Amino acid sequence: MIPKTILKLSDVTLRRENKAILDSINFQVQSGENWVVLGPNGCGKTSLLRIASLFEHPSSGVVSVLGKTLGKTDIRKIRHLVGFTGHGISQLLRPDLETEVVVMTAKYGALEPWWHTYTNEDRAKANAHMKAVGVNHLAKQKFGTLSSGEKQRALLARSLMSDPELLLLDEPASGLDLPGREELINSLSALTSDSHAPPIVMVTHHVEEIPSGFSHILFMKNGSPIASGPISEILNTDNLSKCFGIHLEIREFNGRWSAQGKTN
Ligand SMILES: Nc1ncnc2c1ncn2[C@@H]1O[C@H](COP(=O)(O)OP(=O)(O)O)[C@@H](O)[C@H]1O
Ligand SMILES: [Mg+2]
Repeated sequence: MIPKTILKLSDVTLRRENKAILDSINFQVQSGENWVVLGPNGCGKTSLLRIASLFEHPSSGVVSVLGKTLGKTDIRKIRHLVGFTGHGISQLLRPDLETEVVVMTAKYGALEPWWHTYTNEDRAKANAHMKAVGVNHLAKQKFGTLSSGEKQRALLARSLMSDPELLLLDEPASGLDLPGREELINSLSALTSDSHAPPIVMVTHHVEEIPSGFSHILFMKNGSPIASGPISEILNTDNLSKCFGIHLEIREFNGRWSAQGKTN
């Protein structure tokens, strides 16, 4: 299959209060690729995702999503095709909703079920997405009673409900304990081998959170990319140390990565 360009940022700059939050970003995601965006706190990762998810306009540069260019097309027609899960979404959801309802309502981007009519098919689809990320046994449990890890996986299922053609995840593993993190990462790995799953762009600042099966990485520092390309080629000690500004050593084991500071 010929790869399609799913996301293309050309010379994208974002300025706020005279500060360049993003500076000359060139970033492309092709179909079949799964990207990690890695960089320290405050380097512009969330800002990059907000632009890619069409929530924010850049100060300059060109943003194209699924072949449509921001500013040249009615973006409302494609916004629902970009799934986005970031901080704060959990707090918007009523805690006594059943988990399957939380997932199902994403069909219309809704937070409550009574605004739309749902069919048995919608419910079945929500359960299929929950099964794909290993939380289908929690379908009838109230969302507010799930553990943090279960919530994150339910939100991942929710972000798949609208059949997105691009999935953006902002630090999905942050705050999870080790089993929660590992379950989430395994779910993400499983998605990379599902031919129906969309390309994923996942933001993190820990190499330990990179799921096996992810293909590419963008290193960010102070609002600019410092390296990008296939994980197998550019995820190394030099780039990681440059990115975080300290000497780091990196190791790979079974397709997963770990890093630690150099002692000498
Ligand atoms: N609306 C805004 N106004 C001013 N500064 C902002 C705004 N949004 C983000 N920033 C600043 O831009 C920088 C990058 O933020 P962010 O994209 O959230 O980084 P990251 O997700 O990598 O931690 C931070 O220094 C942040 O304080
Ligand atoms: Mg952030």
